[in-house]
Amino acid sequence: MLPVDFDTPRLAVVMVGLPARGKTYIARKISRYLSWLGYQTRVFNVGNYRRARLGATQKHDFFDPENLDGSHKRRELAMDALRDMLKWLDAGGQVGIYDATNTTSERREQVLSACRRAGVQVVFIESICDPAMVEANIREVKLGSPDYVDFSPERAAEDFRARIAHYEQSYEPLADAELSYVKLIDVGRQVVVNRVEGYLPARLVYFLMNIHTDRRPIWLTRHGESEYNGEGRIGGDPNLTPRGRGYARTLAAYVTERVPDPRELVLWCSTLRRTRQTAEHVGRPPREWRALDEIDAGEYDGMTYDEIRTRHPEEFRARAEDKLRYRYPRGESYADVIQRLEPVIVEMERQKQPVLVIAHQGIIRGLYGYLVGRPQEECPHIQIPLHTLIEMAPTAYGYEERRIELGPAVS
Ligand code: SIN
Repeated sequence: MLPVDFDTPRLAVVMVGLPARGKTYIARKISRYLSWLGYQTRVFNVGNYRRARLGATQKHDFFDPENLDGSHKRRELAMDALRDMLKWLDAGGQVGIYDATNTTSERREQVLSACRRAGVQVVFIESICDPAMVEANIREVKLGSPDYVDFSPERAAEDFRARIAHYEQSYEPLADAELSYVKLIDVGRQVVVNRVEGYLPARLVYFLMNIHTDRRPIWLTRHGESEYNGEGRIGGDPNLTPRGRGYARTLAAYVTERVPDPRELVLWCSTLRRTRQTAEHVGRPPREWRALDEIDAGEYDGMTYDEIRTRHPEEFRARAEDKLRYRYPRGESYADVIQRLEPVIVEMERQKQPVLVIAHQGIIRGLYGYLVGRPQEECPHIQIPLHTLIEMAPTAYGYEERRIELGPAVS
């Protein structure tokens, strides 16, 4: 679907930075965020081109600027990835993310000229990290890279540090005042923004200012069973059933075991009774978000799907045909819900403590879709059962998911 600013020019987000500065982490995060918002987005990772063409066996000397054959091959791979990105943008893509080191002014000039010739706007994003972060990145991410499958951790770390040293010889940080760029220092501790213009790039800056690399679980759950769930009705503001209240207690017990001090938990729910009642036993007052209220069923609020099918068959059919864009009369569509969830997503990214979100089926579909990088079209169809806690544990580049059925069972 088209995002709000459907006149957005095609955009190239060009990563800059020495190896092990979290460029791929940032690139994938941007990609997930923009895809979820409805932009056609794709990452072009030059390291993947290298592995696909030359195999994942290049030792550090391949990256030595004195190695002419290596330099020639690296330039070729970088230009091929760039050409593919521009071709993809020309064929309808909206945001291409060029994930490469781009550590010299000369290379950035080549990228910029090619993008300008193709009429593509460019924003550079440079990642700079302190030595402790780089070391943690080498240990946590790079040692597991396909480049080092046959290496011991010590040899892999040594080779990777030597690779970084090769790049350091010619590294020129971004400094050209004419360029549009964002410098991210220690993934968000400090952000320098230069000449960033336009709706989408500015939105991107706001997102980048809120991301970090601290690892904490995010728990997502629907409220416990409500009186309407039992009757198959949608919307409304019903209370929990006794079974739903049972879930609220089991949920609180589970979360308290994981986070014994409730002050260390970020707890969010909607403004509706069923989520507030589900949050009741967690041990701290939740923050109530209107943005977490269930999709607004408008004139059909309080009806069952059978009633909608019999009384409004055309509307029922229209919804089945396009669940993402279908808007309930005087209500909302899933696409509307996704737009209104954006501030929740950014706030969720900003949190450094464990987060528990208690909301509704439509809402959890949207949040979960973002975390796992599902395209908008798929979000309205994601299975989110009642009385099941979804645990999202951060990994190097995304989340590992676990679904915990806490019961009691619902029919
Ligand atoms: C790589 O081959 O892993 C990165 C290439 C680059 O962008 O310098």
